[in-house]
Amino acid sequence: MSQTILIEPEEGLRKIFSLNLNTYALTDVIDRSNAKETIELLKILPSISLIIAKNEVGEEKTAVTIANFLKEEGLDIPLIVLGECKELADSYLTLKHPISWEILIKHAATTLGVSEELIENKKEPAFVAIDSFYFYDIKHTPCDVYIRIKKNNGEYQFVKRLHNQDRFTHEDIKKYETQGLKQFYVPKDYQQYFVNFVTNSIIKELEKSDLTLKERLSTNANAYEIVKDQISLVGLDQASQELADSCIQSMVKAINAAPKLAELLRELFSSKISYAYQHAHLVAVIGDFILSKQTWYKPQHLDLFTFVAFFSDITLKTEQEIKINTTHELKSSTLSDAHKQKVNSHALDASELVKDHPSQTDDMINIIREHHGARDGIGFNDNVAEDIHPIARVFIVSDAFVKIMLDPDGPKNKKDILSILYAQYPSEKVQKIIKVLEQKID
Ligand SMILES: [Fe+2]
Repeated sequence: MSQTILIEPEEGLRKIFSLNLNTYALTDVIDRSNAKETIELLKILPSISLIIAKNEVGEEKTAVTIANFLKEEGLDIPLIVLGECKELADSYLTLKHPISWEILIKHAATTLGVSEELIENKKEPAFVAIDSFYFYDIKHTPCDVYIRIKKNNGEYQFVKRLHNQDRFTHEDIKKYETQGLKQFYVPKDYQQYFVNFVTNSIIKELEKSDLTLKERLSTNANAYEIVKDQISLVGLDQASQELADSCIQSMVKAINAAPKLAELLRELFSSKISYAYQHAHLVAVIGDFILSKQTWYKPQHLDLFTFVAFFSDITLKTEQEIKINTTHELKSSTLSDAHKQKVNSHALDASELVKDHPSQTDDMINIIREHHGARDGIGFNDNVAEDIHPIARVFIVSDAFVKIMLDPDGPKNKKDILSILYAQYPSEKVQKIIKVLEQKID
């Protein structure tokens, strides 16, 4: 379901708008009191579909402040202004007082792609947004694809942009992105068909044996983002499981090809690969290095560790959330309380998520749950519990090492990184693992 921010200080109106937006425009309404609160939310949730804002709240020029923020950040989020606002009348839809809720809902529904007929029948919206990265590894689509454009009166309409079977390249999609387009739209009825088409295409690509390291990393990273997105939308369904498996096998292939760490980093950075994937891949590389120095090491430990690295942070949405590695960092972050809670329980959440995955084992679930040092998967525990899975300890060290390595302001020298780790994790068992990393890793 789409999400709409609503700023209406008058409680009676707010209730009427909110209830009807939810019922008839099929959108989740998030109340905010003013521009400041709205901007704070937009910083962590730029995927909001619509903002409905009062022109002024008290002394504050609410709608203008929000419009300026959207412009500065290049966010193409539709805004409907409640009340007259001359500054914005040319670029946004402004509704004069008194505002009937029917008119407001009609405009909101059109903007969100919910047709009048569908509103009457209270069905699903006609179009659904698909993030542009879904198009990176396909060369044509199995259905017509639309973009949403703004008309002169501030309303939105959907225009067909890619026809079924039209050929296009990754560069074509990048061109749309440089023009500020982040999402395409497909008819709701085709949503699942489209997603299956994309996942199958990527799986075929990843199964090719002649991919260069650069191509493999780039397609892996894309697969990772799609699995992550699908999990947030529909959970770990069969299509996502298959794509995840294929991506994990491809990560193992890339790690077995054993590029020098410096070359790997260069490829990860030069392809503008997401932080989330850089982190997962490097954790698997460092973890495998540590494991390979153990007397009991077997090649299947790489499969297990890569599975864990793939899923451990999969429920976290943003780079800011993934970077957090201590209780102090979590408490002092600018995340909302709800997001802090999600970060705090992400190890447990991820372990629950993979319980239905056909390739999972008890070891994998335990390591994922304990990957921040707590047996119950809640919080960040520098005093790593003594009785956690031994491979969870390897994960904790790899994770912390990679996070420092990827921090542009952190030390680059291995010795400096290791001394931070020694200070952070006093447990003797963990110190032993850190020692393994002192050996030459590239
Ligand atoms: Fe984590």
